[in-house]
Amino acid sequence: MSPRSKLQAAFCALAQKFHAHSHPSVELSTENKTNYVNGTNHVDNTSASVPSSNLAGKVAIITGSSKSIGASIAKELASQGANVVVNYVNDFKSADEVVLSIQSLGKGKAVSVKADACTISGSKTLVDETLRLFGRIDILVLNAGIMGSKTLEEVDEPFIDAHFNMNVKGPLFLVKTALPSLVTPGGRIIFFSTSLTTASSVLPNALCYVASKAAIEQVSRVLSRDLGARGITVNTVSPGPVDTPLFREGKPQRVIDSIAAQCPENRLGNPEDVAPVVAFLASPAAQWVNGQVIRVNGGFVV
Ligand SMILES: NC(=O)c1ccc[n+]([C@@H]2O[C@H](COP(=O)([O-])OP(=O)(O)OC[C@H]3O[C@@H](n4cnc5c(N)ncnc54)[C@H](OP(=O)(O)O)[C@@H]3O)[C@@H](O)[C@H]2O)c1
Repeated sequence: MSPRSKLQAAFCALAQKFHAHSHPSVELSTENKTNYVNGTNHVDNTSASVPSSNLAGKVAIITGSSKSIGASIAKELASQGANVVVNYVNDFKSADEVVLSIQSLGKGKAVSVKADACTISGSKTLVDETLRLFGRIDILVLNAGIMGSKTLEEVDEPFIDAHFNMNVKGPLFLVKTALPSLVTPGGRIIFFSTSLTTASSVLPNALCYVASKAAIEQVSRVLSRDLGARGITVNTVSPGPVDTPLFREGKPQRVIDSIAAQCPENRLGNPEDVAPVVAFLASPAAQWVNGQVIRVNGGFVV
């Protein structure tokens, strides 16, 4: 067994132990307690879905959910009964921690899947693995994104390609790949933008980031008309500054403080400020919210 597989086996054993300890009345299923996928992913079918919440039994793919906003969304959806695919590209340990924490709740199930969400082949992996493990797809959360910082003078082709691949092409092709399997009617697609697309305080070095996020907002608007006819809603969540590695990278503390001061509460957002809004959009209650860009920024942009 490779060191990686050993580590995952240890994680799974710990999860089962913790689950049994936390829920002594729940008997562990005899089938498929631990299922390895190509040596990189695992699923634990011991967690019982609780059909009391409005996401019970639904299956969600959340790109970039091993940490930060995506991890918070995965936990929130699972806490409401959804079975979730925790997607990562490098950090399997963090992804497994998210899976463990979801399993410990004993509500929705969770599996971690390694896939590069900015590639078409990554989209295929995510869809194939989700169908293989859960048999359906109800909710797509296109959360993974990158935010580089370069002015026009500094921008080169790889930089702009990286932004459009991750922030536009990847999400678009994941939707395209998943669409034939997306539950219809009732499917939910949630893209991610930034409140900077409408902030007058935007800085020149946000060029490629803001351009790519503006593009995905337009993709979302147009798709809502196309897929809305099939009973699938398509919306975009547009956070303000949220305290994550993506936000902090390259910023001195004084810059971070001055950005926080632009929010009425004089603080940055937290991933947990954003996740419940995504959960609402993913729920049946949001069936008449379609084609909208929902800003979640504490008043950073009004
Ligand atoms: N933070 C903010 O202030 C802010 C504001 C507005 C909008 N947003 C948007 O919100 C979304 C989430 O932002 P965040 O701040 O939570 O980001 P983050 O801290 O950079 O999130 C990192 C997560 O994305 C995953 N990831 C990175 N590249 C990936 C790829 N190619 N394929 C699959 N997963 C990948 C990472 O996986 P590994 O762990 O494997 O590396 C990790 O799970 C983004 O779309 C961002 O533009 C953020």
